[in-house]
Amino acid sequence: MKSKILNVSFNEDFSKKSYNIHIGTDLILNPKPILREFIEKRKIIIIHDSYFSLQDNKNKYLYKFVESIKEYSSNVYLLSIPGGDKTKDIFHLNKLIENILSFEIDRESLIIAFGGGVVGDIAGFVSAIILRGINFVQVPTTLLSQVDSSIGGKTGINSKIGKNLIGAFHQPLAVISDMNVLKSLPKREFHAGLAEVIKYGLIKDISFFEWLEKEYKDILTLHQLKLQNIVTKSCEIKAEIIKNDEKEKGERALLNLGHTFAHAIEYFGNHDGRIIHGEAVSIGICLALKFSYFLGFCREEDLKRVANLFEKFNLPTSFNNFKNLSLSSAKLIERFKFDKKNKQNQLTFILNKGIGKSFIHNNVNINDLTQFLDKEI
Ligand code: GLY
Repeated sequence: MKSKILNVSFNEDFSKKSYNIHIGTDLILNPKPILREFIEKRKIIIIHDSYFSLQDNKNKYLYKFVESIKEYSSNVYLLSIPGGDKTKDIFHLNKLIENILSFEIDRESLIIAFGGGVVGDIAGFVSAIILRGINFVQVPTTLLSQVDSSIGGKTGINSKIGKNLIGAFHQPLAVISDMNVLKSLPKREFHAGLAEVIKYGLIKDISFFEWLEKEYKDILTLHQLKLQNIVTKSCEIKAEIIKNDEKEKGERALLNLGHTFAHAIEYFGNHDGRIIHGEAVSIGICLALKFSYFLGFCREEDLKRVANLFEKFNLPTSFNNFKNLSLSSAKLIERFKFDKKNKQNQLTFILNKGIGKSFIHNNVNINDLTQFLDKEI
């Protein structure tokens, strides 16, 4: 399978930080052609998910990757962190920083994030702040991180108050997305990633949404070419949106479809694994569509079609699946107030005028929202 290369660039960018996303197979086993120019004679710190270990045969990926990097740099250091949102906190951040500084790095050193979204977010954030910023490369190993979190430069950690509230925009030098590594992923993680994939169709591409409806069986069996198409298409849509709005002053907020609900659900789930990010996004998107219908923006048949596709990918579509979170409309609305999209104390939601037509809805009426949530919970 031939690799695809997609360029990410920004219209209003004076530092010209454009970079490539490489999407193919066996890229992790042989990353030299992509990484050579960035790693030669530098100190390399690989921050990897502890799911991957050098000894573990099932995860030969990390071992081969490291061996390949060592051909060009004699100073390669590995640090592992557990995946899962609980790791994305100030404690783990501090530990990483102290460890990395002990390697006597300089501003030419390079961090490589090897893992899912949590590893990419925290490793990216360390890169943004250590020595006031050094370069990093993303090697996303989950579908969710390949289609979303590894691109666009959002890095950060959670605060006790809410998700992703501490962070920086810091673009990587390159992104390497290998379809093979997805085979090593637990099924639940793979399905969760598909929630973010469906999101792109819903935001701006009905034909991609229809393709997902048509191809779902092959996708579930990890058909490599179709996975490559999924990752490429998702990254194309994301790159097109962020090109004009790197720092989320406007259109980039569309990528947050379903996330206001999702972040609140994750908060009440206490990030303890009962519900993982993509599952919360799946419920969140279905709620966003239902809220759009409630406010008269879209048709009932759109809701049914969207829920149907999530269900085909074994994803939850309503609060029913998570009754044990003991939610209430008042508790949820309290959480929504911490969302970064809000302006001047008014709630902002991303809603839909149909499949492929998301829009930013500012100043959401609290009474409407309460009535809607009371009906759903
Ligand atoms: N994950 C949403 C964004 O990158 O803007």
